[in-house]
Amino acid sequence: MHRSSHSQALQGQVAIVTGSARGIGKAIAAGLAARGADVVISDVDIDGAQATAQEISALGRRSLAQQCDVAQRAAVEQLVQTTVSELGRLDILVNNAGITRDGLLVRMSEEQWDRVLDINLKGTFLGCQAAAKVMMRQRAGKIVNVASITGLIGNPGQANYSASKAGVVALTKTVAKELAPRGINVNAVAPGFIATEMTAEMSEKAQAAFLEQIPLRRAGTPEDVAEVVCFLASAAADYITGECLVVDGGLTMR
Ligand SMILES: NC(=O)c1ccc[n+]([C@@H]2O[C@H](COP(=O)([O-])OP(=O)(O)OC[C@H]3O[C@@H](n4cnc5c(N)ncnc54)[C@H](O)[C@@H]3O)[C@@H](O)[C@H]2O)c1
Repeated sequence: MHRSSHSQALQGQVAIVTGSARGIGKAIAAGLAARGADVVISDVDIDGAQATAQEISALGRRSLAQQCDVAQRAAVEQLVQTTVSELGRLDILVNNAGITRDGLLVRMSEEQWDRVLDINLKGTFLGCQAAAKVMMRQRAGKIVNVASITGLIGNPGQANYSASKAGVVALTKTVAKELAPRGINVNAVAPGFIATEMTAEMSEKAQAAFLEQIPLRRAGTPEDVAEVVCFLASAAADYITGECLVVDGGLTMR
Protein backbone atom coordinates (compact mmCIF):
# COMPACT_ATOMS: atom_id res chain seq x y z
CA MET A 1 0.00 0.00 0.00
CA HIS A 2 1.27 3.46 -0.88
CA ARG A 3 1.91 5.64 2.13
CA SER A 4 1.86 9.38 1.72
CA SER A 5 4.81 11.44 2.88
CA HIS A 6 2.43 12.84 5.48
CA SER A 7 2.15 9.63 7.46
CA GLN A 8 3.83 11.43 10.36
CA ALA A 9 1.06 14.06 10.51
CA LEU A 10 -0.78 14.21 13.84
CA GLN A 11 -3.63 16.61 13.10
CA GLY A 12 -6.55 16.28 15.51
CA GLN A 13 -4.62 14.04 17.90
CA VAL A 14 -4.14 14.69 21.60
CA ALA A 15 -0.86 13.94 23.37
CA ILE A 16 0.48 14.04 26.93
CA VAL A 17 4.22 14.45 27.51
CA THR A 18 5.43 14.00 31.10
CA GLY A 19 8.42 16.01 32.30
CA SER A 20 7.99 18.46 29.42
CA ALA A 21 8.81 21.74 31.17
CA ARG A 22 12.32 21.53 29.71
CA GLY A 23 14.90 19.32 28.01
CA ILE A 24 13.98 16.31 25.91
CA GLY A 25 10.32 16.38 27.00
CA LYS A 26 9.93 19.99 25.86
CA ALA A 27 11.46 19.14 22.44
CA ILE A 28 9.08 16.16 22.13
CA ALA A 29 6.09 18.39 22.92
CA ALA A 30 7.23 20.91 20.29
CA GLY A 31 7.77 18.14 17.73
CA LEU A 32 4.31 16.66 18.29
CA ALA A 33 2.73 20.14 18.04
CA ALA A 34 4.66 20.89 14.84
CA ARG A 35 3.04 17.75 13.35
CA GLY A 36 -0.39 19.05 14.35
CA ALA A 37 -1.11 17.47 17.74
CA ASP A 38 -2.60 19.23 20.74
CA VAL A 39 -0.24 18.67 23.67
CA VAL A 40 -0.68 18.56 27.45
CA ILE A 41 2.51 19.69 29.18
CA SER A 42 2.89 17.97 32.53
CA ASP A 43 5.71 18.37 35.03
CA VAL A 44 6.40 18.86 38.74
CA ASP A 45 7.72 22.28 37.67
CA ILE A 46 4.44 24.08 36.94
CA ASP A 47 6.05 27.42 36.00
CA GLY A 48 8.21 25.71 33.38
CA ALA A 49 5.22 23.69 32.18
CA GLN A 50 3.17 26.85 31.71
CA ALA A 51 5.98 28.48 29.72
CA THR A 52 6.22 25.43 27.44
CA ALA A 53 2.43 25.33 27.03
CA GLN A 54 2.50 28.98 25.92
CA GLU A 55 5.12 28.16 23.29
CA ILE A 56 2.94 25.29 22.01
CA SER A 57 -0.11 27.57 21.87
CA ALA A 58 1.96 30.02 19.83
CA LEU A 59 2.38 27.23 17.24
CA GLY A 60 -1.40 27.33 16.85
CA ARG A 61 -2.15 24.13 18.75
CA ARG A 62 -4.24 23.64 21.86
CA SER A 63 -2.09 23.15 24.94
CA LEU A 64 -2.48 23.07 28.69
CA ALA A 65 -0.08 22.81 31.60
CA GLN A 66 -0.78 20.30 34.35
CA GLN A 67 1.26 19.85 37.50
CA CYS A 68 1.86 16.14 37.96
CA ASP A 69 4.40 14.08 39.91
CA VAL A 70 4.45 10.86 37.89
CA ALA A 71 5.27 8.84 41.03
CA GLN A 72 1.81 9.65 42.45
CA ARG A 73 -1.00 7.44 41.15
CA ALA A 74 -3.78 9.95 41.92
CA ALA A 75 -1.92 12.74 40.11
CA VAL A 76 -1.32 10.60 37.01
CA GLU A 77 -4.98 9.51 36.89
CA GLN A 78 -6.04 13.14 37.26
CA LEU A 79 -3.71 14.13 34.41
CA VAL A 80 -5.35 11.66 32.05
CA GLN A 81 -8.86 12.59 33.18
CA THR A 82 -8.23 16.31 32.74
CA THR A 83 -6.77 15.70 29.29
CA VAL A 84 -9.85 13.79 28.17
CA SER A 85 -12.30 16.26 29.70
CA GLU A 86 -10.50 19.35 28.34
CA LEU A 87 -9.25 18.08 24.96
CA GLY A 88 -11.70 15.26 24.28
CA ARG A 89 -9.44 12.23 23.85
CA LEU A 90 -5.96 10.79 24.37
CA ASP A 91 -4.04 9.39 21.40
CA ILE A 92 -0.40 9.66 22.47
CA LEU A 93 1.34 9.33 25.84
CA VAL A 94 5.07 9.98 26.13
CA ASN A 95 6.46 8.84 29.49
CA ASN A 96 9.52 11.09 29.54
CA ALA A 97 9.85 12.32 33.16
CA GLY A 98 13.02 11.00 34.73
CA ILE A 99 15.73 11.85 37.24
CA THR A 100 19.23 10.76 38.24
CA ARG A 101 20.60 10.38 41.78
CA ASP A 102 24.05 9.03 40.97
CA GLY A 103 26.45 7.28 43.34
CA LEU A 104 28.62 4.20 43.44
CA LEU A 105 26.86 1.02 44.54
CA VAL A 106 28.55 0.76 47.94
CA ARG A 107 27.61 4.33 48.82
CA MET A 108 24.10 4.43 47.34
CA SER A 109 21.35 5.10 49.89
CA GLU A 110 17.96 3.44 49.83
CA GLU A 111 16.48 6.91 49.37
CA GLN A 112 18.54 7.39 46.16
CA TRP A 113 17.43 3.98 44.92
CA ASP A 114 13.74 4.41 45.79
CA ARG A 115 13.35 7.94 44.39
CA VAL A 116 14.82 7.01 40.99
CA LEU A 117 12.82 3.78 40.73
CA ASP A 118 9.64 5.58 41.84
CA ILE A 119 9.85 8.29 39.18
CA ASN A 120 11.53 6.51 36.26
CA LEU A 121 9.95 3.05 36.51
CA LYS A 122 6.81 3.28 38.65
CA GLY A 123 5.95 6.59 37.00
CA THR A 124 6.09 4.94 33.59
CA PHE A 125 3.93 2.05 34.84
CA LEU A 126 1.33 4.46 36.26
CA GLY A 127 1.27 6.45 33.02
CA CYS A 128 0.82 3.32 30.87
CA GLN A 129 -1.94 2.05 33.15
CA ALA A 130 -3.93 5.30 33.23
CA ALA A 131 -3.60 5.90 29.46
CA ALA A 132 -4.40 2.28 28.58
CA LYS A 133 -7.85 2.59 30.13
CA VAL A 134 -8.73 5.42 27.71
CA MET A 135 -6.87 4.02 24.69
CA MET A 136 -8.48 0.57 25.07
CA ARG A 137 -11.93 2.18 24.80
CA GLN A 138 -10.76 4.07 21.68
CA ARG A 139 -9.14 0.86 20.35
CA ALA A 140 -6.18 3.01 19.27
CA GLY A 141 -3.22 4.77 20.83
CA LYS A 142 0.53 5.15 20.93
CA ILE A 143 2.68 5.03 24.05
CA VAL A 144 6.36 5.95 23.87
CA ASN A 145 8.57 5.45 26.92
CA VAL A 146 11.92 7.21 27.32
CA ALA A 147 14.51 4.66 28.45
CA SER A 148 18.31 5.08 28.17
CA ILE A 149 21.31 3.22 26.79
CA THR A 150 22.41 2.80 30.41
CA GLY A 151 19.46 0.42 30.78
CA LEU A 152 20.97 -1.69 27.98
CA ILE A 153 24.69 -1.61 28.81
CA GLY A 154 24.95 -0.30 32.42
CA ASN A 155 26.96 2.70 33.65
CA PRO A 156 29.17 3.03 36.73
CA GLY A 157 27.51 5.25 39.36
CA GLN A 158 24.03 4.60 38.02
CA ALA A 159 22.88 1.30 39.58
CA ASN A 160 19.51 2.88 40.39
CA TYR A 161 19.10 4.73 37.08
CA SER A 162 20.24 1.91 34.79
CA ALA A 163 18.03 -0.61 36.63
CA SER A 164 15.05 1.74 36.28
CA LYS A 165 15.66 2.16 32.54
CA ALA A 166 16.16 -1.57 31.95
CA GLY A 167 12.84 -1.95 33.75
CA VAL A 168 11.27 0.57 31.36
CA VAL A 169 12.44 -1.51 28.37
CA ALA A 170 10.97 -4.74 29.80
CA LEU A 171 7.78 -2.95 30.86
CA THR A 172 7.47 -1.58 27.31
CA LYS A 173 7.64 -5.09 25.81
CA THR A 174 5.12 -6.58 28.23
CA VAL A 175 2.64 -3.73 27.84
CA ALA A 176 3.13 -3.89 24.04
CA LYS A 177 2.14 -7.57 24.09
CA GLU A 178 -0.87 -6.95 26.35
CA LEU A 179 -2.20 -3.97 24.38
CA ALA A 180 -1.42 -5.06 20.80
CA PRO A 181 -4.81 -6.80 20.40
CA ARG A 182 -6.45 -3.46 21.33
CA GLY A 183 -4.70 -1.53 18.56
CA ILE A 184 -2.26 0.23 20.88
CA ASN A 185 1.46 0.46 20.02
CA VAL A 186 3.96 0.69 22.87
CA ASN A 187 7.60 1.48 22.13
CA ALA A 188 10.67 2.93 23.80
CA VAL A 189 13.59 5.11 22.81
CA ALA A 190 17.00 4.71 24.42
CA PRO A 191 18.89 8.02 24.13
CA GLY A 192 22.65 8.09 24.57
CA PHE A 193 24.48 11.24 25.63
CA ILE A 194 22.10 14.18 25.07
CA ALA A 195 22.96 17.79 25.94
CA THR A 196 20.38 18.82 28.57
CA GLU A 197 20.41 20.12 32.13
CA MET A 198 20.56 16.48 33.26
CA THR A 199 23.92 15.83 31.57
CA ALA A 200 25.22 19.36 32.30
CA GLU A 201 25.42 18.16 35.93
CA MET A 202 28.12 15.64 34.96
CA SER A 203 31.81 16.54 35.44
CA GLU A 204 33.57 17.92 32.34
CA LYS A 205 35.83 14.88 32.44
CA ALA A 206 32.88 12.47 32.35
CA GLN A 207 31.27 14.47 29.51
CA ALA A 208 34.52 14.44 27.51
CA ALA A 209 34.87 10.68 28.05
CA PHE A 210 31.41 10.11 26.55
CA LEU A 211 32.09 12.42 23.58
CA GLU A 212 35.29 10.57 22.71
CA GLN A 213 33.37 7.31 22.34
CA ILE A 214 30.58 8.66 20.10
CA PRO A 215 31.20 7.73 16.44
CA LEU A 216 29.16 10.74 15.22
CA ARG A 217 31.48 12.94 17.31
CA ARG A 218 28.89 15.09 19.05
CA ALA A 219 26.41 15.01 21.88
CA GLY A 220 22.81 14.43 20.84
CA THR A 221 20.28 17.26 21.00
CA PRO A 222 16.80 17.04 22.54
CA GLU A 223 15.50 17.40 18.95
CA ASP A 224 17.47 14.30 17.84
CA VAL A 225 15.46 12.28 20.38
CA ALA A 226 12.19 14.12 19.75
CA GLU A 227 12.22 13.28 16.01
CA VAL A 228 12.36 9.55 16.79
CA VAL A 229 9.65 9.80 19.45
CA CYS A 230 7.39 11.67 16.99
CA PHE A 231 7.98 8.96 14.37
CA LEU A 232 7.01 6.24 16.87
CA ALA A 233 3.92 8.26 17.86
CA SER A 234 2.78 8.56 14.25
CA ALA A 235 1.05 6.33 11.70
CA ALA A 236 4.43 5.89 10.00
CA ALA A 237 5.26 3.46 12.84
CA ASP A 238 1.92 1.60 12.86
CA TYR A 239 3.68 -1.76 12.37
CA ILE A 240 6.27 -1.25 15.13
CA THR A 241 5.50 -2.31 18.69
CA GLY A 242 7.58 -3.48 21.66
CA GLU A 243 10.68 -1.97 20.03
CA CYS A 244 13.40 0.06 21.74
CA LEU A 245 15.08 2.44 19.30
CA VAL A 246 18.57 3.55 20.29
CA VAL A 247 19.34 7.25 19.58
CA ASP A 248 23.00 7.55 20.55
CA GLY A 249 25.16 8.65 17.59
CA GLY A 250 26.52 5.11 17.38
CA LEU A 251 27.84 5.01 20.96
CA THR A 252 26.60 1.48 21.72
CA MET A 253 26.93 0.13 18.17
CA ARG A 254 28.33 -3.41 18.03
N1 LIG B 1 19.99 13.77 28.83
C1 LIG B 1 20.39 12.56 28.51
O1 LIG B 1 21.56 12.35 28.11
C2 LIG B 1 19.46 11.40 28.59
C3 LIG B 1 19.93 10.16 28.13
C4 LIG B 1 19.09 9.06 28.20
C5 LIG B 1 17.82 9.20 28.70
N2 LIG B 1 17.39 10.40 29.15
C6 LIG B 1 16.04 10.46 29.69
O2 LIG B 1 15.29 11.45 29.01
C7 LIG B 1 14.28 11.96 29.88
C8 LIG B 1 14.35 13.47 29.92
O3 LIG B 1 15.64 13.83 30.38
P1 LIG B 1 16.28 15.31 30.23
O4 LIG B 1 17.70 15.11 29.89
O5 LIG B 1 15.41 16.15 29.38
O6 LIG B 1 16.21 15.76 31.77
P2 LIG B 1 15.86 17.17 32.45
O7 LIG B 1 16.29 17.00 33.85
O8 LIG B 1 16.37 18.31 31.65
O9 LIG B 1 14.26 17.22 32.37
C9 LIG B 1 13.46 16.33 33.10
C10 LIG B 1 12.11 16.96 33.39
O10 LIG B 1 11.35 16.02 34.17
C11 LIG B 1 10.75 16.72 35.25
N3 LIG B 1 10.49 15.81 36.36
C12 LIG B 1 11.38 15.37 37.30
N4 LIG B 1 10.76 14.59 38.18
C13 LIG B 1 9.45 14.52 37.82
C14 LIG B 1 8.31 13.88 38.35
N5 LIG B 1 8.39 13.14 39.48
N6 LIG B 1 7.13 14.01 37.71
C15 LIG B 1 7.04 14.79 36.59
N7 LIG B 1 8.08 15.43 36.05
C16 LIG B 1 9.28 15.30 36.66
C17 LIG B 1 11.73 17.82 35.58
O11 LIG B 1 11.08 18.86 36.31
C18 LIG B 1 12.21 18.25 34.21
O12 LIG B 1 11.38 19.24 33.64
C19 LIG B 1 14.51 11.29 31.24
O13 LIG B 1 13.67 10.15 31.37
C20 LIG B 1 15.94 10.85 31.16
O14 LIG B 1 16.22 9.76 32.02
C21 LIG B 1 18.18 11.51 29.11
